[in-house]
Amino acid sequence: MTRRRQIYEGKAKILYEGPEPGTIIQYFKDDATAFNNQKKGTINGKGVLNNRISEHIYTRLGHIGIPHHFIRRLNMREQLVRQVEIVPIEVIIRNVAAGTLAKRLGLEEGTPLPRALVEYCYKDDALGDPLVGEDHIECFGWASNEEMRDITEMAFRINDFMCGLFSAINIRLVDFKLEFGRVWENEYPRLLLADEISPDGCRLWDMESDEKLDKDRFRRDLGGEVEAYQEVARRFGLLPEGAENEVLDLEQHRKKRGK
Ligand code: TYD
Repeated sequence: MTRRRQIYEGKAKILYEGPEPGTIIQYFKDDATAFNNQKKGTINGKGVLNNRISEHIYTRLGHIGIPHHFIRRLNMREQLVRQVEIVPIEVIIRNVAAGTLAKRLGLEEGTPLPRALVEYCYKDDALGDPLVGEDHIECFGWASNEEMRDITEMAFRINDFMCGLFSAINIRLVDFKLEFGRVWENEYPRLLLADEISPDGCRLWDMESDEKLDKDRFRRDLGGEVEAYQEVARRFGLLPEGAENEVLDLEQHRKKRGK
């Protein structure tokens, strides 16, 4: 394999220079982190599953006209995406109280919210991604008011669509995180949805049992992380029935053959 220039290594992905200018290859790792990097581990096969799940969700969002960075999946762990200038804001959409919201406001986890709620966090690992308001974002020049209006409108639209997508496979979309980036066209910035959408950045509960099918299994030492991610992929029809382990076997088999 030809050596590629690595641009960046993050917590769950490695970014390489893409084949054409303005493109990037995202490699999905099995590494998992939580609580601002204090907890680290590996979820075997997570990268393969997140690559597939994210591809599926992005493709479906593309069908309803959400502009995004995804171009195509290249192989089991990699996808080709457009290079963007990331807006340093994590956009969190919540439908049900959980995680830091439940803790911050003393709400019982699982309480449905009166309506979808949006929150913004400033992307800075050293600061632990602090919660910020729209005025901070404008004041420090992280994004313009106009961009934040577009981002928020897109985020609510994505939430509506994803709630339906997950409810069709009997999963409640409790909350999730989105990121956006800019591409420059004729000196004008255009916003694209970027980064992965997978059980790493969503809270997904089984509609009937409330069983957690997301990274909370890792955060909270519940066990069964691999099975939970596989279950999401299986319900989306991304794994043939009864072939859950074959995805990983296939990858191992290919590695052995040096492919
Ligand atoms: P939140 O409850 O704020 O934080 P935590 O996951 O640490 O309890 O997270 C809300 C949702 O957004 C949850 O599904 C995880 C996702 N998220 C990320 O994926 N990355 C992040 O940096 C943050 C802050 C949230």
